[in-house]
Amino acid sequence: MNESRKRFAGRRIIVTGAASGIGLATAGALVGEGALVGSLDRTQTTIAGEHASAVVDLADAHAAYTAVETVARQLGGIDGVVCCAGVACGTPLADLDIDEWNRVMAINLTAPYVVARAALPWLRQARAAAIVNVGSATALLPSALAGAAYAASKGGLVVFTKALAAELAPHIRVNAVCPGLTDTPLMSHVLHSAADAAREAVGNYALRRAALPAEISDAILFLLGPESSFVNGVALAVDGGRTYH
Ligand code: NAI
Repeated sequence: MNESRKRFAGRRIIVTGAASGIGLATAGALVGEGALVGSLDRTQTTIAGEHASAVVDLADAHAAYTAVETVARQLGGIDGVVCCAGVACGTPLADLDIDEWNRVMAINLTAPYVVARAALPWLRQARAAAIVNVGSATALLPSALAGAAYAASKGGLVVFTKALAAELAPHIRVNAVCPGLTDTPLMSHVLHSAADAAREAVGNYALRRAALPAEISDAILFLLGPESSFVNGVALAVDGGRTYH
């Protein structure tokens, strides 16, 4: 395809968690659509055609802020942000200590705030800027399987998204994707362990299966790009029908 006709031609997009799973699929799809991707991850990323990257622990707010600034300078600006980095935590309350709680919150909830805060001056200079946060279907319908700390962090992220959507409109749109179980390294212990555990995990999904990372990144690209120009403040469930019934 002619480069200039690609959906994200020349758009400068920061993707956190771009080294694995949904973030990797998102970064790859964006590069394929002509974007200049700036990746932030604690692991070195391997995206072909990537234009900037920073290895950073996003739980360290100061390091995360600086990394956004560095990558933004390398890209020459920011048109969009995808906050995908996250950690699971299925620890039951009786075993959940304050350090684990704080770390889940730092990565899943505080880091998207820090990244949005650092990106804001750049996004304000951009045309049709957008932020997409990756929540979870657990934020819409919590379950014991995912754990209370994880659900609380993702529930907070969805409400943060909606509040920010109101605050930053009309110039910057802010939306969330809420995936159901997706076949990534984060969930391989569930999906590729005992067949029964995998079947049970998707037993209440209308589609009776987990998602492929590309099925989530498709939704992220939709919310980031021009096709969703009148969509703001939504938490889009992409969960095979887990939360509608
Ligand atoms: P993944 O484990 O494959 O990828 C997560 C990425 O985030 C990794 O590259 C990791 O290095 C990075 N990351 C984690 N903590 C970090 C930190 N402190 N600093 C910098 N980078 C860090 O996981 P997956 O499945 O791709 O998850 C992506 C997002 O989707 C997460 O926010 C997760 O909560 C969410 N999600 C995933 C679901 C699933 O079933 N896989 C379901 C619902 C939501």
